[in-house]
Amino acid sequence: MITCFGALKERILKDGKCLEGGILKVDGFINHQIDPDLLEQMSVEFIRRFADVKFNKILTIEASGIAPAVMLGFLLHLPVVFAKKKKPSTMDNMLTTTVYSFTKNRTYDVCCSRNFLCRGDKVLFIDDFLANGNAAKGIIDLVQQAGAELAGMGFLIEKSFQHGGDYLRSQGIKVESLAVIDSLDNCRISFADDSIAC
Ligand code: G4P
Repeated sequence: MITCFGALKERILKDGKCLEGGILKVDGFINHQIDPDLLEQMSVEFIRRFADVKFNKILTIEASGIAPAVMLGFLLHLPVVFAKKKKPSTMDNMLTTTVYSFTKNRTYDVCCSRNFLCRGDKVLFIDDFLANGNAAKGIIDLVQQAGAELAGMGFLIEKSFQHGGDYLRSQGIKVESLAVIDSLDNCRISFADDSIAC
């Protein structure tokens, strides 16, 4: 069953903006200006949803995943690692993969040091958006290369009409999304679960 987190859903309806091409702008509270109180509430909801899963590390990808991942790591006192989109010249011992961005119509490299994503780690991946799931697929590749284990994937907003979530769930991954949007057609925001209290 798909359930949405009421506080985020209400905020999306209040401050989210629909752009052409199925893009939802949430830069007033998630990915440019950030609302820390909402971020804390969302992290508490992730803690509730992943309560039955064991993990020792939180993994995310720069840039917009970092804030929600750090808030969760702060509350759980766990380290947070973010995959980088540019290989730093000072880093060796890197895991790398290539991700195709549907939104930007280009590929980019994603990398992470083997020192911070290690064999035996059990990681929870956190990101702001799940759309086509290409970033998530890249992360799965990095986790596999490291010999680590993926405990689950948590997203603030899933756009279910782009089907990344279908793929991840079909792989047996525990995926939790706090707000699931099933359509942005005609610039109208439609949630998968239509009850505001969900
Ligand atoms: P995918 O990873 O799920 O396949 O997504 P896609 O390639 O379509 O998206 C690429 C980037 O666009 C990702 O951020 C993703 O979070 C973001 N994105 C996707 N749909 C939306 C949307 O409706 N609204 C907003 N605001 N962003 C969206 P990124 O390029 O990695 O950017 P950032 O994390 O550096 O901000």
